[in-house]
Amino acid sequence: MPNQSLNHLVCCGLLFLGVLFSSPACALEIVAGPCLQNPTETSMSIVWVTDVNCTSWVEYGSSEQALDRKAFAGSHGLIDADQTIHRITIEGLFPASTCYYRICSKEILKFEAYKVTYGQTLTGDVCHFNTLSKNKPDFSFIVLNDIHQRNDLFKKLAEQSASRPYDLVFLNGDIISDINNTSQIIDYVLKPCADLFAKTTPMIYVRGNHETRGKYARMLPDYLVLPNGRFYFAFDHGPVRFIIMDGGEDKTDDNPAYSGLVDFDRYRIQQKHWLQKQIQSEAFQKALFKIVVVHMPPVASQQWHGSDHLYELWRPLFNEAKIDLMICGHTHKYEVIQPKPGVSEYPVMIGGKPADKEATVIRVDVTRDKLDAVMTTDEGATVGTYQVLRRPPAL
Ligand SMILES: [Fe+2]
Repeated sequence: MPNQSLNHLVCCGLLFLGVLFSSPACALEIVAGPCLQNPTETSMSIVWVTDVNCTSWVEYGSSEQALDRKAFAGSHGLIDADQTIHRITIEGLFPASTCYYRICSKEILKFEAYKVTYGQTLTGDVCHFNTLSKNKPDFSFIVLNDIHQRNDLFKKLAEQSASRPYDLVFLNGDIISDINNTSQIIDYVLKPCADLFAKTTPMIYVRGNHETRGKYARMLPDYLVLPNGRFYFAFDHGPVRFIIMDGGEDKTDDNPAYSGLVDFDRYRIQQKHWLQKQIQSEAFQKALFKIVVVHMPPVASQQWHGSDHLYELWRPLFNEAKIDLMICGHTHKYEVIQPKPGVSEYPVMIGGKPADKEATVIRVDVTRDKLDAVMTTDEGATVGTYQVLRRPPAL
């Protein structure tokens, strides 16, 4: 064989090997995200998942052309590294401001004590979000519940809501049916959220009873950014103080289905004590509207321990606090429960179930004078409305 042909063959072989080993099929990829979470007036958290271990950061700034700042996550002086779940918080923003950002991940091929070998770096598309503001005079939000892994319904409800803008999306529990592997959290929460709205609009996760089930229920918080690390918290946006609570499971703690591994009675009492302090807070007292979002309605059932426990423990405090609106799921029966003096003195809007024509999205339009809540099915039928007028100031 002439030398020229041999050289050509060697070159082709090397090229083939080069293509083989740098093939895009082996490339670092974003599995899910970015998904905005835990919004505040001055910060936003961004969560995404990569297919291989990386160290990650977010580049951000006040315009698409000026991503001149960098945020990363870490603790104890160590920047997070060698992991596939990336949770980074941008801090120091201004209320009601627009922030442009892009996620970046750098693959870690080998992590040795005195040398880290990096692979590819991946940079996401530029996206943007708005921070919250107590001074915003009006805004809207939507609530989805009991999707139970029906991504088709998730998509339908979210797309149907997209015709008018909204600032927040609440996932009000039982989005996952039980958590037997972490891919369910990615496939049924992070991916649909990011693909449908959460690159620009933050998602607020309200845990349902089904998300307490399964071995990997204990890892759900690893994929979320929860205020103070808890599933119960409060925050403000516009004239609303939101109270998010976690009702735990519906059956008694000693039910054989839980194998002695749940402690929800004590957890609900802990939240009662938190709620007592919360309703005395200045932020709560000053808010023009108070909205509670909780998966399991605190309605006496005479059948389900969880609901009955909430009815006894939390309902008197909600009455005392003069809650304006409660939004729930769980029962798989959409309805609007009118306020009942001396019983539950606030309206409760309960979303639907994971079935065609019976899944719902609740949209609430907020102004400084009123709340307008409308519940619509995946087919676009309005199946519940409620209007709350601002209460006159206390004398
Ligand atoms: Fe439920």
